[in-house]
This record gives sequence, structure tokens and C-alpha cells, in this order.
Amino acid sequence: MLTDNSRPIGIFDSGLGGLTVFKEIRQLLRYENLIYFGDTARVPYGNKSKETILRYSKEITKFLLKQNVKLIVVACNTVSSLALDELKKEFDIPIFGVIEPGARCAYKKLIERSRSKNNIITNKKTICEDTAYLSGIETIAIIGTSATIGSKAYSDAINRLNNYKNGANINIKIIEKACPLLVPLVEEGLVDSDITRDVIKYYLQPVIESNPLSIVLGCTHYPMLKEIILDFADDNTEIIDSGKEVAIEIKNFLISNKMLNSKTAKTYEKYYVSDDPEKFKLLGSNFIGSNITEHIEVVIDFL
Ligand code: DGL
Repeated sequence: MLTDNSRPIGIFDSGLGGLTVFKEIRQLLRYENLIYFGDTARVPYGNKSKETILRYSKEITKFLLKQNVKLIVVACNTVSSLALDELKKEFDIPIFGVIEPGARCAYKKLIERSRSKNNIITNKKTICEDTAYLSGIETIAIIGTSATIGSKAYSDAINRLNNYKNGANINIKIIEKACPLLVPLVEEGLVDSDITRDVIKYYLQPVIESNPLSIVLGCTHYPMLKEIILDFADDNTEIIDSGKEVAIEIKNFLISNKMLNSKTAKTYEKYYVSDDPEKFKLLGSNFIGSNITEHIEVVIDFL
């Protein structure tokens, strides 16, 4: 019988990509039991309507609840952008998306970088707590699927932080760029290829020209392309991985709510998909950085 804290964390995505988030959670929370659901039969979500994405996500959330999860991580940026609020309203369980953690990190970095830049200019010896000296326009770039970019979820989240009472009210320019060809290229295993470099160059050229302080990887697949993106980006541009950030956030949540699993409990990982498990195993290993050896169950009853 599982104790409360040994109940698994449920992580879901439209398909394989969320394994980049799974990987971060697994690394940071080694003793947590994990369940991953990839909706491989219905991927991609990135070009679907809000209604459809919401319906799919509710089905998956219900499925994860049946698996007795203690919290749910929406690894998919598209779902986090379009359906998270509804899911939180409808289901009585902690649910985390990737947008807020990614946006928070981008905003924090922007304040830090902006402060140090201003300190150099004004030759201040100490970092001033008064943010009024922040001046000029600072740029953050967001890249993601068409649905994520169309939703403006990242820019809304960053603007909320900036305008909130503790926000610095910096003059922020947010550039959002949909990069729809990148998901299929990664899924085809073409990460390290000329065609992917060309496509990244095509999408990122206008982004890079605006000299952003950071580029937020607003899609589960993009951490796989981080090295290439870094090659194109200016040396001073930071790459922000929303998956990494949500892992930190749920760790903090589990600690502060005394929900961490005991270090002596056995850890298990389970994978569920809605289509061909063998393909998931094969391609998934690239995302996760190690072989998936577990049996993968196919779920079709809610499709
Ligand atoms: N998981 C999606 C995301 O992060 C990318 C793949 C898709 O379009 O479903 O937005």
C-alpha cells in the first residue's frame, strides 16, 4: 500500500517531448515515483484549437488521477498555455504548468542582468535595491509552437510579474516567435543536421537581431536543440529551459508541503502512451538521455 508521499508525480505531454521535463524532474527528485503519459496518438497539439486541447488534457488528467498521483505536471507548453487555468479549476489536485516557471526565470534574469548592466554604466559599487534606476528597453524572446505563441501566455506572465506590486516595471520588449517546423525535425531524429540548422537560422535571425537578454525555450522539444540555438545566439544571451524551472518549482513545493517521498522508498517510473509503445521507447531514449527499459502500457479507453 502506498503512503501518501510515495504516491507518484504524474507528468503528461502531447507526446514524446515532455520527456525533456521528465528528465529534469527525475534528476532533481531522485526518490520520487514518476508516471509519464504521452498522447502519442494525437500529437501534435501545437496546431490544434483550445477546445480540443482542453478536452484532451481533461481526459489525461482524469487518467492520471486514477493512477493515484499526488500532483500533476503539465509538461506541454501548449497545454500549459491554453488549458492550465481550466484544469486547476476543475481538478482538486496541485497542477503545475511550465509557463509561469519559465516566465519567472526570464524575468528574474532580466532584472539581474539589467542591474549589473546599469551598475557598469553608472559604476555603482553595490547593487541598489531601488529598481528605479533600471532604464532602457530590455528584450526577452520566446519561441514555441503556433498555439503557445498565439496564446501570448508567456508574455502575459512576464508582463504580470513586471506590473505586479513588487515588479520592477522595466521597459520590456517581448518578441514571440512560432517555430512550427522544429517539433517534426526533432521527432524525425534530425537534431544534428544541416536542415535543422537552416530552419533555426530562418526562425531565429530576426530574434537574434533584436539582441535579447534571454531566449525562453517555450516548447518541450527545444531543449534538444539548445546547443544549436546557442551557436546562433549572441554570447550574452541566456537560454531559459522551462522544464528545468518547473522541476525546481515542484521540488520547492514538495519540500514546503512536506510531500517529499522518503529516501528509503523504492522509486519506480511508469510510462503510458496512446499509440505505438515501441516507437516511444526508441525515440524517447534520445529525449531522456538513457534507454527506456520499462514496459510501456498503451491507454486507449479514453480515446
Ligand atoms: N509538447 C508541445 C509543446 O511543448 C510540442 C509538441 C506538440 O505540438 O504537441 O508545446
